[in-house]
Amino acid sequence: MKTRKVGVIGLGHVGAHVAYSLAVQGIADELVLVDQKAQKVESERQDLADSVAYLPHRVKISVGDFADLADCDVVVNSVGKIELLETHDRLSEMDFTIAAVRSYAEKIKASGFNGILINITNPCDIVTRELALMLGLPKGHVFGTGTGLDTSRLLSALNRQTGVDHKSITAYMMGEHGALQFAPWSCVSFRGMPLDEWAKTDEKFRFDRDALQKESIGGGWVTYTGKQCTEYGIATTAARMVHIVLHDEKVIMPASMELCGEYGESGLFAGVPCLIGKDGVEKVIELPLTAEERQKFHDCCEGIRKNMEHLKDI
Ligand code: 2OP
Repeated sequence: MKTRKVGVIGLGHVGAHVAYSLAVQGIADELVLVDQKAQKVESERQDLADSVAYLPHRVKISVGDFADLADCDVVVNSVGKIELLETHDRLSEMDFTIAAVRSYAEKIKASGFNGILINITNPCDIVTRELALMLGLPKGHVFGTGTGLDTSRLLSALNRQTGVDHKSITAYMMGEHGALQFAPWSCVSFRGMPLDEWAKTDEKFRFDRDALQKESIGGGWVTYTGKQCTEYGIATTAARMVHIVLHDEKVIMPASMELCGEYGESGLFAGVPCLIGKDGVEKVIELPLTAEERQKFHDCCEGIRKNMEHLKDI
């Protein structure tokens, strides 16, 4: 029987919660934990292993090196330096994280890894692109959690506002996993009924859209302020994506993906709705945005491009 093997690079708050989510939800049969901090990663392995006896699914957990990622079906990249987020700007991590992934991307490649890599590390859109360029895997095999997490925040806000269950709502945050993102309201629907139609007859659906968008963009900082990290939301987003890939679910959800002409953009990764399956992002979905939303998306992309200019100095 096929074993589902997942590697996690970087066992900080986020990586540890990704590993725990994959174990507790029975998504992976085998986990390989990779981190340069030997004692930390060994402690995480021990703690996770201590949970296995009472988990509903068996999972084998080991500490490994980059070479041990060779036969992983999926690798989640989650290195980071959380203290740098004190500025509430994911770009502040860039000097550290780009240098970090550049220091080991060749090692992942040298291992012969040929699976799907999902990047969490911030700034997510820029780091995902860097990894994709360095690993040279087929298109779509490297993608990022991107605005998948921010969309979860938006769905929670919409659920609170309207009372409709998250899973019955279609909505997206698009653009940068950062300040440069937006909600295309023209594409929000409730099982086929557009938001604008609901709003005609039900006042719960006539809300302050800017406020909900702002809440979705700023949710991470509300979390960060009291606990100096964010972990459950992002870990659950990444675990969901791993599950989708391993089960070839063909789910449409936002991820950070390379744009090759979609929405009139190219040469960058940004948060867009994607069809995700065993080959990672198998298709970028082009929503029928209004002219104003298309302009907003373009502005997001210009912002990401501007931030990418800093790569030359790292
Ligand atoms: C988050 O949005 C900080 O990127 C991290 O939770």
